[in-house]
Amino acid sequence: MISRRHFLQLGVATLPLPAFADSQDLPAVTLGAGEARAQLLPEKYAQTPVWAYNGSIPGTVLRTRQGHGMSLRFKNGLAEPSTVHWHGIRLENDMDGVSGLTQEPVEPGGHFDYHFSTPDAGTYWYHSHHRSWEQMARGLYGALIVEEREPPVVDLDQVLLIDDWRLQANSEISDDFESMMDRSHGGRSGNWLTVNGVGIDRAIKSVKRNQRVRFRLVNVANASIMSLAFEGLQGWIIAFDGQPLDTPEKLGEIILAPGQRVDVLADIVNENEARLLMATQKGLAPLMRFPVEGLQRETILDPPQPLPANPLATIGSLRDVQITELHMQGGAMSGMQSAVFQGRELGMRELMSEGMVWAFNGVAGMAETPLLTATRNSTVRIRMKNDTSFPHGMHLHGHHFRQVLDSTEQIPTSIGPWRDTLLLDRGEIADIVFVADNPGKWLLHCHMLGHQAAGMKTWVQVT
Ligand code: C2O
Ligand code: CU
Repeated sequence: MISRRHFLQLGVATLPLPAFADSQDLPAVTLGAGEARAQLLPEKYAQTPVWAYNGSIPGTVLRTRQGHGMSLRFKNGLAEPSTVHWHGIRLENDMDGVSGLTQEPVEPGGHFDYHFSTPDAGTYWYHSHHRSWEQMARGLYGALIVEEREPPVVDLDQVLLIDDWRLQANSEISDDFESMMDRSHGGRSGNWLTVNGVGIDRAIKSVKRNQRVRFRLVNVANASIMSLAFEGLQGWIIAFDGQPLDTPEKLGEIILAPGQRVDVLADIVNENEARLLMATQKGLAPLMRFPVEGLQRETILDPPQPLPANPLATIGSLRDVQITELHMQGGAMSGMQSAVFQGRELGMRELMSEGMVWAFNGVAGMAETPLLTATRNSTVRIRMKNDTSFPHGMHLHGHHFRQVLDSTEQIPTSIGPWRDTLLLDRGEIADIVFVADNPGKWLLHCHMLGHQAAGMKTWVQVT
């Protein structure tokens, strides 16, 4: 396996050309999916059989530079087909890794070469996009970091992938991946938390006082919404979903829906320990401990500048922009009577027997026609109405969008940060806008993977 240092050197070596331009060459990096074992639980328990990229949970941290792109060979060592999706990257459509929409799944023993652009710096991640509700719950995910051309000065760059697993007493992953009880409610939640594949009893990293750390937090869980907070340090949120904030935000509570990321720049100010905490039903649980050992410098560094903005198309006037409604329906306690599934109107009971329980605009599962067709570079506005009894994290592929916060105005007077995944509470209505500048077929779905599997997905076509 190529070490991170070696990989960075390779990245530099290909500097004059974007990596995807050398598509004739064999990619230097291999990402192999296969069976492995991981010590998720405390050491007195058995290891857990998992599915992993390059044998580890999480998979290898992939790093490249803004504009360099990424080239790698995916090898499928699983006993079933799979694909890899590069969550949040505004890449070429045929590299998006969505089985059945942008590519055929890679058969067991097969491989697929991914070559794609990385126009934006930031914190991204990769994961299976084939039977994701099971493949991701078994461990098929990893971080994908696109470094800024001039990264902010930090002493430590700490990627933290947070997951919750549903484990049995014998350490094995509970195989009730298709439970309709989970799917019709909040989704599959776990009973054991890990940070970077290590149980929270052992998630420890020593730091120094006045050290500046960049934390890159990713919620890789199947369905759980995470409410997080840091203790013993002070800092700023500098990016959401990879995209820099215009003005860094003072660090407070962080809510992460599945798929969402946050970048935090922080200085360790406590003398003994800093901690990452998560709100659970039993109160605040320490997810990770950062014991303070020694002094990095006498005083903390100056507050950071905002990260340089990524080259996203500016949102202009919305005056002539049509609104496309996306009505989110179904699930337990919603009163949905019926929906169209594979071209036929089915009652709730029939839908359930097809494994469907959610719908977008009256259609359960992937519709044959897109939610909307946009001509390239036109502005798209989607009004998402969550008419269900549960929150949902809505993810759009191939683009980032902003939420219009003042939706009465034709010209947004108040607009949210760039995101690729937006959390909508039950009953919430949210308008998102983006410039459809990336041609292709792009999935739009709930990132609670059981919800997606049970109906919450559609797609957007950019021509
Ligand atoms: Cu993170 Cu459609 O995926
Ligand atoms: Cu959902």
